[in-house]
Amino acid sequence: MNHEQISGIAHADHPIKAPLDDESVRRLLEHGAPRDGERVLDLGCGTAEWLLRALATHPRLHAEGVDTSEVSVEQARRSAGLLGVEDRLVVHQQKASEFVSDQPFDLVVSVGATHAFGGLLPTLAAAREHLAPGGRVLLGESFWDREPSAEAVEIFGELHDLATTVDLIAADGWAPVHAHVSTRAELDAYEWSCLGSLASWALDHPADPNAAEILRTAHERRAEWLRGYRDSFGFVSLVLRPTSGL
Ligand SMILES: C[S@@+](CC[C@H](N)C(=O)[O-])C[C@H]1O[C@@H](n2cnc3c(N)ncnc32)[C@H](O)[C@@H]1O
Repeated sequence: MNHEQISGIAHADHPIKAPLDDESVRRLLEHGAPRDGERVLDLGCGTAEWLLRALATHPRLHAEGVDTSEVSVEQARRSAGLLGVEDRLVVHQQKASEFVSDQPFDLVVSVGATHAFGGLLPTLAAAREHLAPGGRVLLGESFWDREPSAEAVEIFGELHDLATTVDLIAADGWAPVHAHVSTRAELDAYEWSCLGSLASWALDHPADPNAAEILRTAHERRAEWLRGYRDSFGFVSLVLRPTSGL
């Protein structure tokens, strides 16, 4: 099984691929404030769960998502059909950095996907390019809540602490107008959901040639999380407005 297929199984019960519960997602979208008739873009949309929720809430909203994952893009299109919003959602399977549009967007979302642009500031630069006047960015980014272990750095790369992350964003010309730091309960629920889905899938498909590998993956990831990064990993989601030189 490839990484995308394993990720699909892991997120069966947690379609938002980030440590946020449904109420946090709802509030962040509300503050991102897509009003009816506005346009929303998600760079690194995965299965487009953020867009599907925004579309379900706002009947005249139009959305576009960009993701490299064929599995995720196909699932996003299927979900849009099931929800009856397929005429208002376009999902592009391509690199987010190569996406161009001749129309700007009122909300640009990028949650857990700054690696698609090579980091936080390049992601904000790309979002700025797509933003309509008066628009907002909804950004979700990892940070170190405590000094990371060497193993944690190996898994996630170099992250900043929360204050430095927000300072960098502000210095780049953005004002946070709403934010949510994922709680320990949200962080734990996300990991247990992904690990539990992997283990359940393996145990429900004992004859599948991938079952043993999937169960082993669940065990290995649980050890990496509990021993490697549970105490140091944090996640912040921010609604940003450009300060426009103020
Ligand atoms: C952690 S997931 C987050 C998905 C979604 N934003 C969410 O919150 O549910 C990161 C996503 O970024 C996508 N991705 C990685 N590199 C990318 C790239 N260069 N261009 C577009 N998408 C990319 C992955 O396929 C994956 O779906």
